[in-house]
Amino acid sequence: MIVLVTFGASPYATNVGYQPIQPVPYSHEIHAGKLGIDCRYCHTGVETAAGASIPPTQTCIGCHTTVKPNAGTDEYKLGPLEKSYETGLPVEWVRVHDLPDFVYFNHSAHVRRGIGCVSCHGRIDKMTVVHQAKPLSMGWCLKCHRDPAPHVRPLDKITKMDWVPEEEDPETLSALRKNVNASTDCSTCHR
Ligand code: HEC
Ligand code: HEC
Ligand code: HEC
Ligand code: HEC
Ligand code: HEC
Repeated sequence: MIVLVTFGASPYATNVGYQPIQPVPYSHEIHAGKLGIDCRYCHTGVETAAGASIPPTQTCIGCHTTVKPNAGTDEYKLGPLEKSYETGLPVEWVRVHDLPDFVYFNHSAHVRRGIGCVSCHGRIDKMTVVHQAKPLSMGWCLKCHRDPAPHVRPLDKITKMDWVPEEEDPETLSALRKNVNASTDCSTCHR
């Protein structure tokens, strides 16, 4: 029990707003917002694996061999991406969200039960540069695990950032939310 005394004082729990500079000025506001590209086009692991995964340069180059805004000017921003493509060396994206190693987390377990990206990451589609929107602290995880039902949405709305419960037929929604239980046993998250 002694270890629990330190809970709450952990530095990890105060990372809200953390927003590192990325090596390529990639914008979710442009790609996920304005262009409306689905999250899963790039974060391919999110429904099947523990990790959501960050896309390889290949995923970007499909469009960016032809889409070259501001080419030939000082405003041109795709240089580092092209360099990565030419050399085969991945872009060294800086991690934004990072739980301590003693915590187990799994994306597919959440997404497949109807917890949408926005519940844990905020309005990514409005972020020019990604920042951490939620504390990701143990207290924050447990708050939902104790009562997950109000956070559950239909599986086809998992990536819809502006979804509201009012869009659904109330009976269908409450049927969906019934029987969703999330464990609060220590061993669920500390294995
Ligand atoms: C065209 C590809 C693409 C699309 C579409 C996309 N992302 Fe991303 N995402 C990236 C790349 C590249 C990064 C790494 C650079 C960064 O953090 O901005 C990233 C980073 C992230 C991160 C931070 C990862 C970390 O390091 O912690 C989150 C969270 C995220 N994306 C969520 C989303 C959500 C939610 C959507 C849909 C609304 C989405 N992404 C759509 C390419 C994409
Ligand atoms: C489906 C096509 C598509 C994909 C995939 C795509 N982009 Fe883009 N990207 C665009 C378009 C279109 C624009 C220009 C949007 C605008 O100017 O409004 C753009 C703009 C950009 C810009 C800004 C350029 C500027 O001068 O403002 C950067 C940087 C960029 N993309 C990086 C990436 C990266 C990195 C990836 C992969 C993670 C990626 N893009 C994937 C279509 C795409
Ligand atoms: C229940 C909360 C939760 C939901 C729902 C969620 N994420 Fe995450 N996400 C996290 C946490 C926590 C991390 C940090 C994981 C770690 O450090 O091991 C993370 C990390 C990421 C990363 C960085 C790469 C990785 O896997 O560590 C990306 C990209 C990402 N999330 C995208 C998404 C997308 C896209 C969705 C929706 C389809 C989504 N997430 C739904 C909590 C969530
Ligand atoms: C918004 C609600 C919500 C938040 C926030 C949330 N979870 Fe969950 N979690 C759930 C639900 C719902 C389930 C699925 C229970 C089920 O399968 O019936 C779940 C399941 C899990 C599982 C079980 C996975 C498996 O393999 O069975 C783990 C581990 C987990 N969550 C860890 C975390 C951690 C760690 C955090 C905080 C970083 C977190 N969760 C935050 C709702 C949430
Ligand atoms: C739903 C997931 C979840 C469950 C269940 C859970 N934890 Fe945690 N725990 C976390 C997360 C996430 C962190 C990391 C918090 C942070 O980064 O500040 C954490 C951190 C801790 C820490 C380190 C605190 C610190 O200050 O560094 C201890 C000790 C701990 N948990 C003990 C427990 C015990 C004991 C239980 C059972 C009563 C439990 N946890 C249940 C998610 C969980």
